[in-house]
This record gives sequence, structure tokens and C-alpha cells, in this order.
Amino acid sequence: MNIKPPASPHLQAGSLAMPLSLKINGRQYNLQLEPRVSLLDALREYTGLTGTKKGCNQGACGACTVLVNGERINSCMTLAMQYAGKEITTIEGLAANGSLDKLQRAFIEHDGFQCGYCTPGQICSALALLMEFEKGMPSAVSPDISAEKFEFSEQEIKERMSGNICRCGAYVGIVDAIRSVMENSAKNQIHETVHFYTGR
Ligand code: FES
Ligand code: FES
Repeated sequence: MNIKPPASPHLQAGSLAMPLSLKINGRQYNLQLEPRVSLLDALREYTGLTGTKKGCNQGACGACTVLVNGERINSCMTLAMQYAGKEITTIEGLAANGSLDKLQRAFIEHDGFQCGYCTPGQICSALALLMEFEKGMPSAVSPDISAEKFEFSEQEIKERMSGNICRCGAYVGIVDAIRSVMENSAKNQIHETVHFYTGR
């Protein structure tokens, strides 16, 4: 029996779909999208990259976090059309040559998840956190925002990861995983990461 797949909720009769080319994890995707399609839906429903998760779909949980030119965004809150010509990195783009990224390994080693639904967003957010630290960007709990460097404390990690909610409550493991990567990475390793994900 032939079962017809459900039509995409974003392509309907009279669709205003337009061509859009997105560069995701170093690969070019040529898509036909209506201008109203969010980046999250474009990833999940048009490219097959379902690692990025939809939690609240309203900017409150962080499950949909991806990197654009090395900076984290909630992909549910933005339109795909905004990102032509940008470097988009999703959780699928972190592993290379069959090996997990150091953050992915640390989340496993430190039990930084339970059900795993929030994990892709947590890891993308943590990657951006490391790069923000490398660039000397302060957070709301940094004691002196004019300082060039900040102490990599538990308080800083919690504040900088506060946009990513975990309903399983795996926060202790998440903080431990991020701290271990930061403490075990030589400065130049983080710098290489910044360069790799921003292309700058
Ligand atoms: S799904 Fe985007 S913030 Fe929750
Ligand atoms: S591991 Fe289940 S929501 Fe975070």
C-alpha cells in the first residue's frame, strides 16, 4: 500500500516559497522556503538536520540553540531568510571524522543529560560560551565588565547557560562537563575552536 507522506505544514497551495541557499555545517543547502519559515523549521523539516530540537518554539527553553558565525541564537525565534551567506553550525556539525567533539565527550563523561532532548542546544550553547570567554565577553555576574579576562567560575557557567533549560535537571553534570573542557583545553585549543566555527 502506498502511503502518501504528509505535506509540509509550511508549503501549502498558493505557497509563496522562494529560493534560499543556506550554508550549514560547511555544506550548501539550496531550499525553497516561504519567508515565514523559522530557521528551526528550515533545519528540521527541509534539510533533515533534526538534531536541533523544538521545545517551546517561543524563545524560552534554548532547545533550538544553534551557532551563526560562531554566536548562539534561538533558531525558533528567527526566520531562515535572514541567514543566507552566514555560517550556520548545528549539533551535527560538531563531530568530525567520526569523532565526537570534546564537549560532546564531556557531556557523556559527566552525565550531562538524562533524556537528551535539551542536549544539542546545551552543547551548542556551551560551545558559544567557551568562545565568548575566549573573546573576553562579560556576563551579568562578571564582577568587572571592563576587565579583559574573567574567572571561569561555576557562577559564570550557570549565568551564561541560563537560557538553556533542562527538564531532567541534569544541571550538575552540565556544569561539570563545561568546566572540564575549559580546564583541560589549552588556550590555543579554544582559539582554534573560535576560528573554526566563525571562519574568522
Ligand atoms: S524551542 Fe526555541 S527557545 Fe525553546
Ligand atoms: S536531559 Fe532531559 S531535558 Fe535535559
